[in-house]
Amino acid sequence: MSTHQRILATVDELLKGPASTWKKSLSEVCKHLQKSIPHFNWVGFYFANHATQTLHLKAFAGLPTDHTEIPFGKGICGQVALSNQNFQVPDVHQQDNYIACDLHVKSELVVPLFVEGQNVGQIDIDSNLLDPFDESDERLLEAVNKKVAAYIPNKLYTLL
Ligand code: SME
Repeated sequence: MSTHQRILATVDELLKGPASTWKKSLSEVCKHLQKSIPHFNWVGFYFANHATQTLHLKAFAGLPTDHTEIPFGKGICGQVALSNQNFQVPDVHQQDNYIACDLHVKSELVVPLFVEGQNVGQIDIDSNLLDPFDESDERLLEAVNKKVAAYIPNKLYTLL
């Protein structure tokens, strides 16, 4: 089993908890990813409120951030809410539309989370290394998001 396969198997286990504890389960998934991949220094899930066009932080591992609510279009996260595309940023200092959470962060990777074709949120990774991400990170996070999408019960992510 590859490292990523092992990580995904653990994600499955962590998501087996009861529906009522889905936020706690997502926090455990964040912690597991942060612990397993050395260049993942901060891991979080934002979910979209399409009525207010804002993203909301629902689970994370790493330093607490002031940016628990992000308008669509703002920062790397807000851009992904509109583009529906993975966004790999090798050097955050080269980005004009970037929201700094922690001055140690040098790079970021955001992968949208789809439920029935709708972009309902995203997983956001910050790294303290310059240019650490590759396609295998994107594939891993896409696979994590698919599992999360299948797990989130009855579209509970809309209860913001
Ligand atoms: N850097 C993000 C904001 C969220 S923090 O990384 C936790 C952005 O530019 O959208």
